[in-house]
Amino acid sequence: KEIRIFAPATVANVACGFDVLGFCLDSVGDEMVVRQVAKKGIVITKSIGYDLPTEIENNVAGVAAQAFINDFDPDLGIEIEIYKNIKPGSGVGSSAASAAGVVVALNELLGKPYNKEQLTAFAMKGEAVASNCEHADNIAPAIYGGFTLVKSCKPVKILEIPTPSNLFAVIIHPQIEIKTADSRAVLPQEIPLSQAIEQWANVGSLIHALHTSDYGLIKESLHDVVIETHRSKLIPHYDAVKKAALKAGALGCSISGSGPSIFTLNKGKATALHVEHAMRNVYKKTGIEFETYISPIN
Ligand code: HSE
Repeated sequence: KEIRIFAPATVANVACGFDVLGFCLDSVGDEMVVRQVAKKGIVITKSIGYDLPTEIENNVAGVAAQAFINDFDPDLGIEIEIYKNIKPGSGVGSSAASAAGVVVALNELLGKPYNKEQLTAFAMKGEAVASNCEHADNIAPAIYGGFTLVKSCKPVKILEIPTPSNLFAVIIHPQIEIKTADSRAVLPQEIPLSQAIEQWANVGSLIHALHTSDYGLIKESLHDVVIETHRSKLIPHYDAVKKAALKAGALGCSISGSGPSIFTLNKGKATALHVEHAMRNVYKKTGIEFETYISPIN
């Protein structure tokens, strides 16, 4: 018996919601196969796309699967095949896709013994291998879909936020690698109260805007006054891309997760295509290699 699944890419932070907000990219992601075999234990039999460790304890999917198996203790073994499309270090939740994908597939294979919050907790163990900290803002949207808010990590509590029907994300991924640990190291440990007030006002109003499909309010809320100034220095031509995207009609533009990818949210596919073109044009002139993705959010 085997399960083949799509493990989606995700955008964490969503401008103002550092470490708590995230959304799922419905059309960008990896594929994974999880197979039940007679011999007990976990083996990664294939890992295609990028050069990743295949020892269970060093592999994000391996560690997440082990956390699941340790708890459930089935009388069988597991083989995992990973077909990666999402480049590690791209800022669209590559490690989270592997960690979330494997636990969702295992849950299907074994008759759905766990709920989504429990699966999130297993997957976070895998994510910690890649980023040195157990955060769930990419894992949660990969498991739940749409927009999610991580209310707390210990215990895991995830809120599903409704998604307006006509929202499209555009991502530009400059082909440089930024390690999450490095891009966390540039952040201040303390922030002024005035910044905190602005940030939580934006998070609250973004959540309200998503609930009420208020695109104008989404636009007013997609601002980050805490993280962006520190991290944008690590991303070549960030300001130019943002300016071009907003001019082309994006609702907002910010860093995807820990970068280097940059995301925009857009009302409607036509605007998304227009914005993608504008972002692409900025990078075309720089000689830096890049990829772009357009995805609906559901
Ligand atoms: N919230 C995390 C960060 C996401 O921005 O560091 C990393 O993928």
